[in-house]
Amino acid sequence: MKLIAIFASGSGSNAQKIIEYFSGSKEIFVDSLWSNNENAYALIRAEKLGIETFTFEQEELYRSNEILDRLIDRRIDMIVLAGFLWLVPRNLTELFTVINIHPALLPKYGGKGMYGLNVHKSVLASKDKESGITIHRVNSNYDEGDIIFQATCPILKGDTPETLAARVHELEYLHYPRVIEEVLLSEEEDDL
Ligand code: GAR
Repeated sequence: MKLIAIFASGSGSNAQKIIEYFSGSKEIFVDSLWSNNENAYALIRAEKLGIETFTFEQEELYRSNEILDRLIDRRIDMIVLAGFLWLVPRNLTELFTVINIHPALLPKYGGKGMYGLNVHKSVLASKDKESGITIHRVNSNYDEGDIIFQATCPILKGDTPETLAARVHELEYLHYPRVIEEVLLSEEEDDL
């Protein structure tokens, strides 16, 4: 059994899809959901689905091994970022496989502050004809790890950040759980 810890800062709609996707799996289990934001709706979504939740402060994440030790104790195999706002510190990226989903086609529209609707506003301010999603490995810089998967969707005349976000979210729900599964199971093969 492979164990996932989800990190989320906001609404948690991706977190919910991931939890639901793996709820019947015999190989992969969402162990817990962690948030830097005690008001994150992601916490409520996870609790409703019977997943343990935890919140943490900056101090615990960046200036101690507190979170690292707790993840090791829980035998976590992978950290999945699902709308997580903070940079993941090096002590975690060095020990765990960490993957993220970004609501645009990296390397464009990435970096600090490029989160949620800010991303879609920048995309719409460009002359691009399409947007999409990027699933990538996480290193200790924002949005810079190796790209694992991308999918595109059109930008339509009259799109607002909200309409584009909704289209991109559908792509996220469709692909993120499946890609997480592929990465985890391929790592299992590597371990054999
Ligand atoms: C998602 O669209 C995700 O791609 C994005 O935040 C949203 C969270 O929505 N992540 C980033 O922008 C990371 N830079 P959710 O909380 O409803 O899953």
